[in-house]
Amino acid sequence: MSVIDPVLWNDWHPVAASAALQPGAMQPARLLGEEIVVWRSADGAVHAWDDRCPHRGARLSLGAIAGDRLVCGYHGWQFDSAGVCRLQPAHPYDTPPRAACARTFQAREAYGLVWACVGAPALALPPFPEQAEGRLRTVLCGPYPVHACGPRIIENFLDMAHFPFIHNGILGDPRYTEVPDYQVGPYDDGLGAEGMEGVIATGCRAYQPQANLMASDGSMVEYTYRVVRPLTAILTKLPEKQGGLVEAISLFVQPLDEEHHHAWIVLAMNNDTASDDELRAFQDRIFLQDLEILESQRPRKIPLEPGVELPQRADRLSAAYRRMLKRVGLRYGVL
Ligand code: FES
Ligand code: CO
Repeated sequence: MSVIDPVLWNDWHPVAASAALQPGAMQPARLLGEEIVVWRSADGAVHAWDDRCPHRGARLSLGAIAGDRLVCGYHGWQFDSAGVCRLQPAHPYDTPPRAACARTFQAREAYGLVWACVGAPALALPPFPEQAEGRLRTVLCGPYPVHACGPRIIENFLDMAHFPFIHNGILGDPRYTEVPDYQVGPYDDGLGAEGMEGVIATGCRAYQPQANLMASDGSMVEYTYRVVRPLTAILTKLPEKQGGLVEAISLFVQPLDEEHHHAWIVLAMNNDTASDDELRAFQDRIFLQDLEILESQRPRKIPLEPGVELPQRADRLSAAYRRMLKRVGLRYGVL
C-alpha cells in the first residue's frame, strides 16, 4: 500500500547503491509502499519503474535487461528506456498499443547512490557539498534495515547523550556523560528548496574514546549537525579537533513504508590509510549498537506534540528537528 505523504512523495530518496547496479543489472526496491524496479541500461543510465508489467501484472524485476530495453519475464514484452512497449513477442508484426507503457519514476545518481522520486520532484537532491566537492574520499555504508519509523532514525543520529551508554568505548565514555550546551539555529543554505528550512547545531562537543577508526586514543570532538530534509542529516567533525582529519557523515533514510527503512550512510573524509571495508565495518558496528534501541522505541511514530515524551536539555537539537517536521507538514512517521 502506498504511503502518501506529499512532502516525501515529491522528494528524492535513495533506492540502491550505484556500484551494485552495473549496465544490464536490475534489482527490486521499495519506496513509500511502492514496489519498484531499479535498473541500468547499456548506455549507463539508471531507471526506476513501478515493478509491475502493464500486461498481466508480473514483476518486471523477474525479467531481464537487453541493451536499452527491459524485457518482462512472463510474455516477453519489451520496454524501451522511456517505458514504452516496443515489442509484444506474441504479435511480433504488430505495433504495440500506445497504452502499453510501464509506469516510470524519475531517477538520478549522486553520492554513490541511485535516487528515485515516485511523485513530482519538488526539491533538489539533498545537498551533501562535502562529497560533491570531490576532494574527499567517499565510502558508502549500509543499507541498514531498520524496523522503526524514519524520523526516529534521524533523531538518534542527532543525539549525543546516548554515546556513553550505547557506544561505550567508541563514541562515548561513561565517565564523561555531560552534554555541554550547544547552539541550534535555522539552516537554509544550499537546500535548493523553498519552504524546506532545515536545522543546524554547532558547538556540539563530546569526549570520544575512539572518534573514528583511525583514532588511537580518546579526544574531545566537536560536531556540527545539519538536518536538510525530514529524512537526511549530515554530521561534520571539525578538523582542528581531530588532527586534520576532515570527516562528514551523511545519513540518508530510505522510507520503504512507514515502519520499515533502510539507513544509508555516506562517509566523506580525507583519510586514505584505512580500507573501505575497514571503514564500513566500523560504521556497521556503531549502527548495530543503535539498532536494538531504535526498534524498541514506543510509540513507534515520533510524537510532535509535547506531553508524550519528556525531553532533557541536551535534546534541543531533536526538539528543533521535531519543529522542522511540523513546519514542513510531515505526516509520515509522526504522531
Ligand atoms: Fe509482462 Fe505478460 S505480464 S509480458
Ligand atoms: Co548511536
